[in-house]
This record gives sequence, C-alpha cells and structure tokens, in this order.
Amino acid sequence: MMTKKIGFIGAGNMANSIVGGLIDDGYPPSAIWVSNRGEQKRDNFALRFSINAATSNEALVSEVDVLVLCVKPQGMRALCEEIRPMVEKRKPLVISLAVGLTTETLNEWLGGKVGVVRAMPNTPSLLRAGATGLFASSQVSPREKTLAESLMRAVGMTIWVDDESKIDVIAALSGSGPAYVFFLMQAMQEAAEKLGLDKKAAQALTVQTVFGAAKLALESGDPPEILRQRVTSPKGTTERAIQSFSEDGLLGMVEKAMRAACDRACELSAELSKR
Ligand SMILES: NC(=O)c1ccc[n+]([C@@H]2O[C@H](COP(=O)([O-])OP(=O)(O)OC[C@H]3O[C@@H](n4cnc5c(N)ncnc54)[C@H](OP(=O)(O)O)[C@@H]3O)[C@@H](O)[C@H]2O)c1
Repeated sequence: MMTKKIGFIGAGNMANSIVGGLIDDGYPPSAIWVSNRGEQKRDNFALRFSINAATSNEALVSEVDVLVLCVKPQGMRALCEEIRPMVEKRKPLVISLAVGLTTETLNEWLGGKVGVVRAMPNTPSLLRAGATGLFASSQVSPREKTLAESLMRAVGMTIWVDDESKIDVIAALSGSGPAYVFFLMQAMQEAAEKLGLDKKAAQALTVQTVFGAAKLALESGDPPEILRQRVTSPKGTTERAIQSFSEDGLLGMVEKAMRAACDRACELSAELSKR
C-alpha cells in the first residue's frame, strides 16, 4: 500500500479494527493519526497502536492526506461543519463509514470540493472478517480508489459499486446479514432443543455448522445452490427439510425482508441529509 498519512476521527470500534488491520499489514504507525471527542479514549487508542494523537479534529485534518470519518451518522453534520475550513484548505481524500449518508451530502457539508468514498462495512470487520461495499464520488481518482480499497481490505473483503443506490442493497445484504444468520442460528438451536438436545450441545453444533458451511462456501467458490444440492441426497433427511422450507416460502420471505431493509436504508439517507 502507498504510505500516505491517514487520519481517523472517532476512536471507536471501527477505527480500532481498521487501524489494527493496517498495522498488522505492516502500515507504519508513524503515518497514522487519531482524534476523538473524549481525550482519554484518544490517548489510550494512540498508545495501543503507537500512533499519533492529534490535539483536535482540525489539527488532525491539517496533518493527513486521507481522512477516515468513524463517528456515528447523527454526529456527522456537526463534525463536517467543524473541520470544513481545514478540509477546504487541505483537500484530503475523505472516507466515510457512516451508514445512510450519501457522498453528495457529505461533500456538500465539507464545502463541495473533496473526493468522498463511502464505505459500508459490517460487524465481522471487528474480527477482520468483514465485507465492505465501496462507492466513490466522481472527484475520486483511480489512485485514491486503490488507496481506499487497500485500507478497507485491512478488515476483510471489499466490493466496489458504480451506482450509490447499490450501497443500500449492500446494507440490506452484508450490513444486516450477520443478524439474519444469527436469527437462523437461533431458530436452528431452539428447534434442536425442542427435539431433545440440551442447550449447550445445540448451541455448539449450530455455531460449528454455520462456521463449517461458510468455510466450505468460501473455499470451494461454488454457488450456494450447488453446495446445497450436493448435501441433499434424494429421499434423504435434508431433502425433507428443504422441501418444508420451500413449501413455507422461505425464498420469498427473505426477499421481502431484504426489500424492507433496503427501503429503510433509503429512508435513513433522506432523514439524515436533512439534519
Ligand atoms: N460497528 C459496525 O459494525 C459498523 C458497521 C457499518 C458502519 N459503521 C459505521 O462506522 C462508524 C463508526 O462506528 P463505530 O461502531 O466505530 O462507533 P463507536 O464505537 O461509537 O465510535 C465512534 C467514536 O466517535 C467519537 N466521536 C463522536 N463524535 C465525535 C467528534 N465530533 N469528534 C471526534 N470524535 C467523535 C466517539 O467518541 P466518544 O466515545 O468520546 O464520544 C467514539 O469514540 C459509524 O458511522 C457507523 O455507522 C459501523
């Protein structure tokens, strides 16, 4: 990765994962800055990774080439207004992790002249097993896109989309996806308990099954439909269960739920841009 000076505003969970991933990948700590509302949190964070602590958000912007905004969406407008004069002066590449805020809104709040990359990570990023969707505004150069991508790859895999509305689809798929999997896990575990397994065994077997199935899918590269057919013997137990799921309309239920999540992401964008 090119060694640019990178600054993180907001020393929370996401910044922790990305900075940890970058340093594990060999990124020099001396090229990383952090600022945070709470000073103690900022200092602990800087000490943990031996990176630079900036005395203020503005001081951080004055130092860096790439600015990663890691604060909650509700606090983003006030933050942008605070750093706008320095952003206008320095014109860093801005990467925002905030759910629901479009590149157009962020660019407007930051003075209208900076390139903004929007990243939609998910919670497994905290274990560097994340999936991140990326979208770049038209002001972002190919070199800056490469830089943004290598940064987010520090916490998992990345996918670019060419149309920002697809970020809402990614929010509905990989953003909310871990919760869907946990819901299915809960259903599997509860059913196993009703069928007679004790709680501990049911939970351990559920978790290992999901882990093993995901590993199989990842390592084989085969589509889920093929993987499913491979473990479904004619007239066997799996076939009976899959038939039951199909009769009860599982595919349609998932599609409806994901459409609802996608619509909500769209609504959130509209609400947040008005704040
Ligand atoms: N966690 C996820 O899995 C996930 C997934 C997708 C997207 N995201 C997005 O990633 C962003 C960060 O999420 P997170 O989970 O890392 O949040 P977090 O743990 O709550 O961290 C946010 C940090 O920002 C700091 N902060 C707030 N306002 C600030 C300001 N004006 N100046 C400087 N620092 C400020 C907070 O400091 P204090 O604690 O001192 O107030 C806190 O340390 C959010 O926009 C979220 O939507 C997160």
